[in-house]
Amino acid sequence: CCLWSVVLLAALLLQGDNAQAIQEHLVFTIIQISSFVNQSWVQHRGSGWLGDMQTHGWDTDSGTIIFLHTWSKGNFSDEELLDLELLFRVYLIGLTREAQEYVSQLHFTYPFEIQVVGGCELRSSDFSKGFLRSAYEGSDFVTFQNMSLVPSPGADSKAQSVCYLINQYEGIKEIVYRLITNTCPRFVLGLFDAAKVDYKRQVRPEAWLSTGPAPGPGRLRLVCHVSGFHPKPVQVTWMRGEQEQQGTQRGDILPHADGTWYLRVTLDVAAREAAGLSCRVKHSSLGGQDIVLYWGHHVPMYLILLAVTVPLVLLIVLALWFRKRCSYQDIP
Ligand SMILES: *[C@@H]1O[C@H](CO)[C@@H](O)[C@H](O)[C@H]1NC(C)=O
Ligand SMILES: *[C@@H]1O[C@H](CO)[C@@H](O)[C@H](O)[C@H]1NC(C)=O
Ligand SMILES: *[C@@H]1O[C@H](CO)[C@@H](O)[C@H](O)[C@H]1NC(C)=O
Repeated sequence: CCLWSVVLLAALLLQGDNAQAIQEHLVFTIIQISSFVNQSWVQHRGSGWLGDMQTHGWDTDSGTIIFLHTWSKGNFSDEELLDLELLFRVYLIGLTREAQEYVSQLHFTYPFEIQVVGGCELRSSDFSKGFLRSAYEGSDFVTFQNMSLVPSPGADSKAQSVCYLINQYEGIKEIVYRLITNTCPRFVLGLFDAAKVDYKRQVRPEAWLSTGPAPGPGRLRLVCHVSGFHPKPVQVTWMRGEQEQQGTQRGDILPHADGTWYLRVTLDVAAREAAGLSCRVKHSSLGGQDIVLYWGHHVPMYLILLAVTVPLVLLIVLALWFRKRCSYQDIP
């Protein structure tokens, strides 16, 4: 009876685990970067992202959405997408005009850059949260909260003035609220459904070792390259045995054009200490079978010996066999 309860309990626990895995944590983000170069020159750039994966671009010249994948429209109709496109276009024109009008009054000075991120986060089918925040010159500036714009903690009086200005427009606040709490979650569910195959694809990394520029006399910079993996989370560590090495330098995870990722992780060591170090790669696509590459063990010595001796032995055997045959034929 005890065994059965354990099995039953395990089955229940596993089931619970499964149910949790189905409830994806989804985030859809629209990023806007606007460079105000001078009174007459402004450039807006825009993109859409499902998690780490870029799904949309923005064609600045024509003011249209670029759909990067066949599934980038999700389940929205062309009509609804055209409405959204028009809304973004009007918003950017309005932003340009307002900024140019208020730039001196609000004590902005050219050139300056504004970044906006907006979107929504879904934790389960019944929890979603919209967000919109903006940065000025790379620092948090204003946030949309509770139906109005508020200065970010630490932002200066400019942020207060901008909030005061924009909060007068009830219509804008209502549109923003509707976009991030209604349109966005609706879009994300349809988009995720359509994107699932690409979004959830598991691509195994390739890994290799090299040396970088020597950090000093008698020292080596060991580089572990990990390339072509998906999804983005990955764990790469330099190890000695089971000991994680201090001083590991992790680069940024960089995108490949095909949507997979690349990472390099370096370690500076004294040259005589390099032997016995290994680079370990953990990634969801590897199913628990980590990739482990040993420094200086590219081809073990016995394999080289084997590769040289086996053909040699074969040659000798062949030669002996021929000689024997020839010598038999010589006998009349
Ligand atoms: C504004 O900046 C652009 C791009 O740098 C430049 O070509 C243009 O001459 C500038 N205009 C003025 C009025 O300074
Ligand atoms: C949101 O605003 C309403 C009314 O303006 C207020 O009663 C409520 O406390 C606010 N909530 C938060 C979280 O600030
Ligand atoms: C798209 O799919 C989502 C989730 O299944 C649904 O809520 C929504 O009504 C669908 N259609 C549109 C046009 O939003």
